[in-house]
Amino acid sequence: MNGRVRCAVFPVAGLGTRFLPATKTVPKEMLPVVDRPLIQYAVDEAIEAGCDTLVFVTNRYKHAVADYFDKAYELEQKLEKAGKFEALAEIRDVLPRHVRAVFVTQTEALGLGHAVLCARPVVGEQPFAVLLPDDLIWNRGAGATKQLVDLATREQASVIAVQDVPIEQTRSYGIVATRDFTGRHGEISAIVEKPRPEEAPSTLAVVGRYVLQPRIFELLERTKPGAGGEIQLTDGIAALLAEQKTLAYRFEGRRFDCGSRIGLIEATLQYALDDDGLRDATRDLMRRALADG
Ligand code: G1P
Repeated sequence: MNGRVRCAVFPVAGLGTRFLPATKTVPKEMLPVVDRPLIQYAVDEAIEAGCDTLVFVTNRYKHAVADYFDKAYELEQKLEKAGKFEALAEIRDVLPRHVRAVFVTQTEALGLGHAVLCARPVVGEQPFAVLLPDDLIWNRGAGATKQLVDLATREQASVIAVQDVPIEQTRSYGIVATRDFTGRHGEISAIVEKPRPEEAPSTLAVVGRYVLQPRIFELLERTKPGAGGEIQLTDGIAALLAEQKTLAYRFEGRRFDCGSRIGLIEATLQYALDDDGLRDATRDLMRRALADG
């Protein structure tokens, strides 16, 4: 693999219909888990993995994402005057100084593969990471993207994050077949987008973290609409693995599907239980809520 993984692509142009009416005005990536929007968790994970160029693929309804990463002069002044320095640091530190954010518009909602292709002019000819912010991955050790980047660098390969899912859920995911699976990783021999359980090659499902070689762009250019009539990243990867080593990696960490309401609730509880200032109160309220049934 040539070069370090510096670019992280965040496709954030989805509609977020499962969270309507909230997502009528608030992009789903801006929904909070405790006190931080989903996008911040994904961005932190990419920066931890060594990325310094963040490419957000957005659309005209997602100004809030760009605003979030912009400097908030008025708010900063107000907090400074009020002596609220902790809060000031919070809003100043959404991005470290060495990291730049680039916004690319996806003018038509043609699918995840198309969204990734929109990042091509920024990424160019380097390997890059893709993070889907509604897959939130909680970890005590190294973040999932760092795990993928390390493996991709070591193996000179593309790497896709996977986890086991119940067979009846295969129609919600990209599903991979592997060979020589070590329990942790293995080469992908086939990948299918959202197969019916009876057609699924396994129960190893793609989670929204990828490290891809730039060859994927050429292949996505040629990818025809697939499942749901969309240009699927999965179909681009299917073409990639015919040419280059592409690994499935069972990451360490706990993934929350924050594209679903129950997943967002679960993530909120997990992060609250993990927060020294909230743990006891959260346990208490969970106990009380269960007792009240
Ligand atoms: C996308 C991908 C799918 C993957 C999933 C992970 O689907 O197309 O292959 O398994 O993300 O969250 P979506 O959930 O956007 O429909």
